[in-house]
Amino acid sequence: MNARTPFDTNTLDQLKAIALQALTSSTTLKALEDAKVQYIGRSGEITLLKRGLKDISAEDRPKTGALINLVSQEVEHAYAVQKDALETADLNAQLLSETLDVTMPGRPSPLGKLHPLSVITEDICSLFEGMGFTVLDDNACPEVETEFFNFEALNFPEDHPARDMQDTYYTEVASNVLLRSQTSNSQIRHMSNNKPPIRIISPGRVYRNEEVSSRKYVLFHQIEGLYVDKNVTFADLKGTLNAFISSLFGGNERPTRFRPSYFPFTEPSAEIDVQCLFCQGDGCKVCGHSGWLEILGAGMVHPNVLRNCGIDPDEYQGFAFGMGVERLAMLRDAVDDIRIFYTNDQRFLKRFQPSI
Ligand code: PHE
Repeated sequence: MNARTPFDTNTLDQLKAIALQALTSSTTLKALEDAKVQYIGRSGEITLLKRGLKDISAEDRPKTGALINLVSQEVEHAYAVQKDALETADLNAQLLSETLDVTMPGRPSPLGKLHPLSVITEDICSLFEGMGFTVLDDNACPEVETEFFNFEALNFPEDHPARDMQDTYYTEVASNVLLRSQTSNSQIRHMSNNKPPIRIISPGRVYRNEEVSSRKYVLFHQIEGLYVDKNVTFADLKGTLNAFISSLFGGNERPTRFRPSYFPFTEPSAEIDVQCLFCQGDGCKVCGHSGWLEILGAGMVHPNVLRNCGIDPDEYQGFAFGMGVERLAMLRDAVDDIRIFYTNDQRFLKRFQPSI
């Protein structure tokens, strides 16, 4: 028997007190488990006392055994109580750390906006939709096009100087394959597959080998319009475009001017100017002191073009028009450099709210 012989009940009491103290003062589950191992584990001090019972006289054994068991049970109980308390405290701490304050204001995620060119394109298309036009998807007609659709069928004879009006990018795919220089290819593509009455709007990208400046870029966007039916006159063209222009520039009647012009695929042809928005016609830098800004080309569809698409010009007439989207956006939204549309500069883009 060692010093803590079970015969010595004082020693047993002391051991109990030390064990209980170790268990109840444990502040972590790890410390608690260590204390358990030390006293009531397989080789714990109290367990060893139980094993030592065999060395005690048979006479004393039951009483001593009962005392040791009692202590052991008390210590087991203290362990269980402390374990429960520590686990509850751990859980509470965890719950507290995960508390969600549903009254906190949320973090706003910035909303994307439509690009200003998309905004004005949608505005223009919906104005024409209101007048009964159908808007074609902007990839309905190819940007990589053949000379036939970009020029020939539009009544540009081969080697005609009018082809030089638009500095065209040719590809290396084949000598007749180019990047379209105008959305007018959509006139041919649509008329070849559809019979009048036709009322379409065809937005899309076009390419020209321009010297880049604040007003010109190598790619830009156009919106083409085509109206073919019986008894269509130049007055219909004028009425439609005047209604469009006054709606686009804020619903006010704006003075417009139809100037005679030339396009191989329209006859007669006109270019349409709107009175300068910046100087109201008095003359300023933006309008080159003329008081007018050119915004689109238009005209009555040339009989040859109708014929090229299998439409009889004696039965049907039509008008067509084409406008530069960047040009209109610059005018409407007071943008003084075309290049900024392609820079994705957040400060510029943030100026624009979708208007629809
Ligand atoms: N396609 C012409 C251009 O790009 C514009 C236009 C379209 C003119 C339709 C008349 C009719 O300059």
